[in-house]
Amino acid sequence: MESVCTSERPNETSSLPATASAYLDPGYWDERFSKEEHYEWFKDYSHFRHLIQAHVTCHSSVLELGCGNSQMCEELYKDGTTNITCIDLSAIAVENMQKRLLCKGFKDIKVLQADMLELPFDDECFDVVIEKGTMDVLFVDSGDPWNPRPETMSKVMAMLKGVHRVLKSNGTFISITFGQPHFRRPIFDAPEFSWSVEYTTFGDGFHYFFYILKKGQRSLEEKISDKVSETPSISLFHEELESEDFLFRTNVEELNC
Ligand SMILES: C[S@@+](CC[C@H](N)C(=O)[O-])C[C@H]1O[C@@H](n2cnc3c(N)ncnc32)[C@H](O)[C@@H]1O
Repeated sequence: MESVCTSERPNETSSLPATASAYLDPGYWDERFSKEEHYEWFKDYSHFRHLIQAHVTCHSSVLELGCGNSQMCEELYKDGTTNITCIDLSAIAVENMQKRLLCKGFKDIKVLQADMLELPFDDECFDVVIEKGTMDVLFVDSGDPWNPRPETMSKVMAMLKGVHRVLKSNGTFISITFGQPHFRRPIFDAPEFSWSVEYTTFGDGFHYFFYILKKGQRSLEEKISDKVSETPSISLFHEELESEDFLFRTNVEELNC
C-alpha cells in the first residue's frame, strides 16, 4: 500500500479466502491488510454509536481487540474517549493503523501487535473492552454451532478469561457480532465469569448483536433483554448477507442445515 493517508476505498469483498478456516491463519490477515485500506466488518460506528456511548465516558480506558483497518477507534476518539488501546495479531494491520492514526492526528491512540488469547496487560486495567467481529473468527471452524469443537471452545475461553481479567472490577465488555444469543449466551454465562449478560440488536434488514457484559454484576435472575422478541428469523438473513464477507455466509449455511 503506497500511503495510508490518501483517499480511502469503500468496503469491498475482494479479499475473500477460499475457505473460512483461512480466517484463523495470521498470514491471511497480513496479506489482506497489505492490500486493503479500509473494511468495516458488520457496520460502521455510526450504526451503533448510540449503543456504545451509553457505556463509555471521556475518562474510560478502552481496549479494542482485533482492530484490523476499522475506523471505530478514531470515531470513539472524536466522540471524546481518548484513552484507547487497539491490538491486532497482524503486524501489517498494526503498522498501517499506526501510520493512519498518526497521519490523521490521533497520536494518543495506542496500537500494539498482540494475541487476544494472551493479552499482554495487567489485571483490571481497562474500563471497557470492545470487539467487533473478532471473536467470530474463532468460530469459523467450530463445527456444529450448537456444540462447538473442544479446540474452538478452548480458544474462546482463553480469550474471554483474558478479557475478564483485564477488565476493572466494574468494567464492561462489549461484543459486536453476528453470533446469535442461543449460541453466545451459554458461553458468556460460563461459571468462571462474574459479568451480567445483556444484548440488543442494530441494523436494518439484517440485525447484528450488541452484547453488554458487566463485570461483577452477575445475578441469579438475569433477564434477557426485551429485544429478544425482535430478533429476526435466520431465514431473513441470507439475502442481506450476500454483501457480507465469507465468514458470515458460511455460518448461515451451517445454521440452515
Ligand atoms: C473480522 S476482522 C474484524 C476487524 C475489525 N474489528 C472490524 O470491525 O472491521 C478480525 C480481526 O481480528 C484479527 N485477529 C484475528 N485473530 C486474532 C487474535 N488471536 N488476536 C488479535 N487479533 C486477531 C484479524 O487480524 C482481523 O483484523
